Amino acid sequence: MEAVDEIARLKAERRAVILAHNYTRGEVQDVADFTGDSLELARRATEVEADVIVFCGVWFMAETAKILNPDKIVLIPEPSAGCPMADMITGAQLRELKAKNPGAKAVCYVNSTAEVKAECDICVTSGNAEKVMALFGPDEKILFVPDQHLGGHIAGLLGRDYTLWPGYCPTHAAITVAAIEAARNAHPGAPVMVHPECAKDVRAAADERLSTGGMCRFARESSAQEFIVGTEVGILHRLRKENPEKTFYPVSERIVCPNMKKTTLENLAESLRVMKTEVTVPDDIARRARHAIEAMLAVK
Ligand code: 13P
Ligand code: SF4
Repeated sequence: MEAVDEIARLKAERRAVILAHNYTRGEVQDVADFTGDSLELARRATEVEADVIVFCGVWFMAETAKILNPDKIVLIPEPSAGCPMADMITGAQLRELKAKNPGAKAVCYVNSTAEVKAECDICVTSGNAEKVMALFGPDEKILFVPDQHLGGHIAGLLGRDYTLWPGYCPTHAAITVAAIEAARNAHPGAPVMVHPECAKDVRAAADERLSTGGMCRFARESSAQEFIVGTEVGILHRLRKENPEKTFYPVSERIVCPNMKKTTLENLAESLRVMKTEVTVPDDIARRARHAIEAMLAVK
């Protein structure tokens, strides 16, 4: 409770806004001004009037907020909160891939470093990837990095063939078809929602393949009363809070992103108290990465 009060006081003093991803700890989501998926958070970051943004999530998300707000202070409470998938391709590796594929369009999942975004024509999130990728014609050569699973999912939906970088999310890789079948047997009739970062067989075993924001919408709008949730367990807090009359079962309680759990009420309060850790992006990289992010945000 002390930390919650301190956060409220410091937030007002610093003219700060707190943005949190759907996977963060429930108590962090509860003190945030806005909780959402990567796309919703990026859009929200373009609307901030406060002087300071405290980003509760992982580094690439805070970096995206900074790129969209070069004149604001963006803080991340725990700077070691990275995304292992984002680190599976470097700017140099992408430059090499582009050199081998002249004329190809480079597309990155927003789960990527600013340096990688700076090399890309456009970004996508799991919430808008199908719409964004539909902009490309059937004859265009596409290099999709770093997530082979999201890229494979969209290529399948649109009937295209992309060059996929072999990156993946270690947290979603732990979701198995056997676990989905076990959950279906335990809760017959409950629709299964999985994140498109899951492997192909897991996506095929599910009923819905959705971003975390898409899962929140589906749960709200569906007439089903019970749902099986195949993604990071942090989303359950929001699903249960927004739909108290419905029941949500995780495919497994062990689907945890350790980096998303690094933000706590204590380090969030500390972050506002001492104004750390400030996210910075070199100007040239920020300018080029902004181009890719803004191209994505222009797709309504
Ligand atoms: P969403 O954009 O669906 O919230 O996903 C972000 C993420 O990191 C999933 O692992
Ligand atoms: Fe990265 Fe996976 Fe964690 Fe999302 S859940 S932040 S993709 S490691």
